[in-house]
Amino acid sequence: MCGIVGATSERRISEILVEGLKRLEYRGYDSAGLAVLSESGSIECVRRTGKVQALKDAIGDTPLAGTTGIAHTRWATHGGVTEANAHPHISENCIAVVHNGIIENHEKLRAQLQALGYVFNSDTDTEVICHLVHHQRKTESDLFKAVQAAVRQLEGAYGTVVMDCREPGRLVVARSGSPLVIGLGIGENFIASDQLALLPVTRQFMYLEEGDMADITRTSVKVYDRSGALVQRDVHESDGQYDAGGKGQYRHFMLKEIHEQPTAVRNALEGRLVHGQVADDAFGPGSMDLLKDIEHVQIVACGTSYHAGMVARYWLESMAGVSCNVEIASEFRYRKSHVHRNSLLVTISQSGETADTLAALRLSKELSYRGSLTICNVATSSMVRESDLNYMTRAGAEIGVASTKAFTTQLVGLLMLVLAIGQHRGISDKCRNAIVSGLQALPAKLEEALLLSDEIEALAPEFADKFHSLFLGRGTQYPIAMEGALKLKEISYIHAEAYAAGELKHGPLALIDADMPVIVVAPNDELLEKLKSNVEEVRARGGIMYVFADKDAHFKSDTSMRVINVSHCDELIAPIVYTIPLQLLSYFVAIIKGTDVDQPRNLAKSVTVE
Ligand code: M6R
Repeated sequence: MCGIVGATSERRISEILVEGLKRLEYRGYDSAGLAVLSESGSIECVRRTGKVQALKDAIGDTPLAGTTGIAHTRWATHGGVTEANAHPHISENCIAVVHNGIIENHEKLRAQLQALGYVFNSDTDTEVICHLVHHQRKTESDLFKAVQAAVRQLEGAYGTVVMDCREPGRLVVARSGSPLVIGLGIGENFIASDQLALLPVTRQFMYLEEGDMADITRTSVKVYDRSGALVQRDVHESDGQYDAGGKGQYRHFMLKEIHEQPTAVRNALEGRLVHGQVADDAFGPGSMDLLKDIEHVQIVACGTSYHAGMVARYWLESMAGVSCNVEIASEFRYRKSHVHRNSLLVTISQSGETADTLAALRLSKELSYRGSLTICNVATSSMVRESDLNYMTRAGAEIGVASTKAFTTQLVGLLMLVLAIGQHRGISDKCRNAIVSGLQALPAKLEEALLLSDEIEALAPEFADKFHSLFLGRGTQYPIAMEGALKLKEISYIHAEAYAAGELKHGPLALIDADMPVIVVAPNDELLEKLKSNVEEVRARGGIMYVFADKDAHFKSDTSMRVINVSHCDELIAPIVYTIPLQLLSYFVAIIKGTDVDQPRNLAKSVTVE
């Protein structure tokens, strides 16, 4: 949530900062800004509402003169989307600050600083940081110590970078609850909230840990831990795998990422299934020692990743012989829950940085869990680094805010977990073979599902004048219906709700009329006949349905129902296969509605605030 880039170099750095912001735009895109510091000590600051392109246009073709600078792309938390609220914030023309996170005690600090004579120019919580540092600098000659004294007064979450007009060539950074990575160059160094921002300028990265602060100049990087001790953090070489590349032949990243799913699933499986067994290191070295003891699984996640967890509950309980709970992270972290014996805490997150999910993982360390596992797409993320076990989904960079290939590869990881735990708990040969052959067949089945693209595009205009919609499914398709509804509301702004089809008659049936499309997910599974009864309930009340169905389910298009045949697949992988047409539906409806598909309003890709 919000993106930070900073640099100190001998060359002009405004173009590096703007390119970094463009790469971070997935984190927030309400407004953007940068401040550069010249050798003579003058700060030049440009901020704009809207996307990074607006900032780029404002700067024009000539790079700004500064060789040290900080930049930010914002996702508003405190204060509306205005130029005044955009970062960097500057105190007394001298201390410039960018910040990710939320300062919870900002009101108290603001009052104290106002009493000291500071004038606030924004409604943000961030502005307290720059005035606080400025105030500390009145009595502290060393910038690092002044920032240290300032951040000690902050409550909440921050990843922050501070620049001082009296110290060209120096950046001081602090991390607490919001990730920061240092990029190491030759005669220049960088800081960012995600290494993706810095891939054009370096492949050498140093990840700051919770409570770390760093003092960065062109030629040196010093990191101090939360106790203030000078520490060494490992330097990692990036293989650039997560460099997003472009959209290729596709109009949007989302469409590209939908079409990448067969390849993503192949990558997620590569080398991990050996002779029908999960490879020993699929969940990390030594993982089987932990997994063999597991009797209960507690899954915690948000949004789309939560839906993956909901599917997994059906799988784990029916095949792996363990009980399973699934909970939204923002609820889990704030309630007292019972920890079952030999329980595994599983976090699912494409980014690995979602604040609530990360907090749940940290909370689990204080409780009596047997261990933790994260299923994640970003190898360098906090969750991966802090979990005992990991399953990397290897989907490649997902840039569209709507999660697509991350979701389907999470489901692959979860099926692998069923196998891995089931191996030790007597999973039946039938289930094991069904999982193995289902996973092997999956890429081809996803390719077949993608062939529905033209048919779905053709029906999308029927949603153009709709304001509400209902998604129905049963069993493992209930969470898939939830995921379909989330996708549609997120990128087309059409209100969409999902129900377990059997719940219809307990209230939602009252909503049915010809103006509310009902989308039904209907593979040929053991719940098909039950689902058909629910379809009749909708038909009898004049509802208009779009049924994604297996050909053998024998639905027929008529005046109240449009049937889209999905080619037959095994029931086990049907939740993954049926996700594809729902993703395509939301994409093409969003195109008809003319929304910003890759960066829908009010959202961000990585939700690092709670
Ligand atoms: O990075 P995470 O998987 O933890 O993110 C969780 C949600 O924020 C995310 O899935 C969100 O719901 C997506 N925008 C859905 O498409």
